[in-house]
Amino acid sequence: MTGEPILRAEELVFSYPDGTRALNGISLSVPRGKKTAFLGPNGAGKTTLFLHFNGLLRPQSGCVYWSGRRVRYDRSSLMTLRQNVGVVFQDPDTQLFSANVRQEISFGPCNLGWPAAKVQEQVDRAMAAVDILHLQDKPTHFLSLGQKKRVAIAAVLAMQPRVLVCDEPTAWLDAAHAAAMMDLLDRQTRDGVTVIFSTHDVDLAYSRADYVFVMKDGKLAGEGHPADIFLNDGLLARADLAQPQLVEIYRDLVEKGWLPPGRPPRTKQELLERIPPRGGRRCSK
Ligand SMILES: Nc1ncnc2c1ncn2[C@@H]1O[C@H](COP(=O)(O)OP(=O)(O)O)[C@@H](O)[C@H]1O
Ligand SMILES: [Mg+2]
Repeated sequence: MTGEPILRAEELVFSYPDGTRALNGISLSVPRGKKTAFLGPNGAGKTTLFLHFNGLLRPQSGCVYWSGRRVRYDRSSLMTLRQNVGVVFQDPDTQLFSANVRQEISFGPCNLGWPAAKVQEQVDRAMAAVDILHLQDKPTHFLSLGQKKRVAIAAVLAMQPRVLVCDEPTAWLDAAHAAAMMDLLDRQTRDGVTVIFSTHDVDLAYSRADYVFVMKDGKLAGEGHPADIFLNDGLLARADLAQPQLVEIYRDLVEKGWLPPGRPPRTKQELLERIPPRGGRRCSK
């Protein structure tokens, strides 16, 4: 990885009050400006780690660094951290509490003490970014799940964070809404926001992430470029992860000698482009 990481965890240990150890000395550096996926079985500690990224949880030992600076837990440091590192929960119902969409999205910027005109401008910008301007006067509890997730993201974006952390942003969404959600996150990365998300969907992580962390038992099991992660059979087995369909198909085609070995394609289009034209020669192994 090049450049200073935007977030860094150093030997984080965290146990819940009932004694469950959720983070077990995990250390990692999140690359700046990229879209980074966290994978791992249920209970691996992904959500607990995300709650450390914006100081909602405090490590029992170890440290979190934001943009090279050690996170402090006094009120004003936490306020700055939470403006810069916005966390969107898996279940929007735990996050949304205002009467309507505009009020919900205005809450964070108002709390930052911004002037009314700036709040309005940022709320409009955030709603436009996630395409919910038409919903602004709706009560949040009438919205569909996908719409609620967008409102929760807009509520974070309105504070102009440098990092957007989304816990399972595509959970419970159908395939079309999941793809739209990932497009939305892509646009944020293009606008310079570092995006971090967790998912159980290996196909999604493989095709959409720039970098992947794999967690297991509160520790890091592996990290790297998606192609390297998903060709590592030992790592996939250890972390109970399936192989993405594209990688599986690509490996079968290489095995049969229909495609030359190399880095697996990231998209279906890329795979199709590598297949020689009809009547063309198949490669030999
Ligand atoms: N509030 C809580 N109280 C007690 N244990 C918890 C709590 N939240 C999570 N855990 C436990 O901590 C571990 C890590 O959970 P979590 O961070 O939610 O993992 P993941 O997001 O990867 O599924 C699991 O064993 C889980 O049961
Ligand atoms: Mg979780």
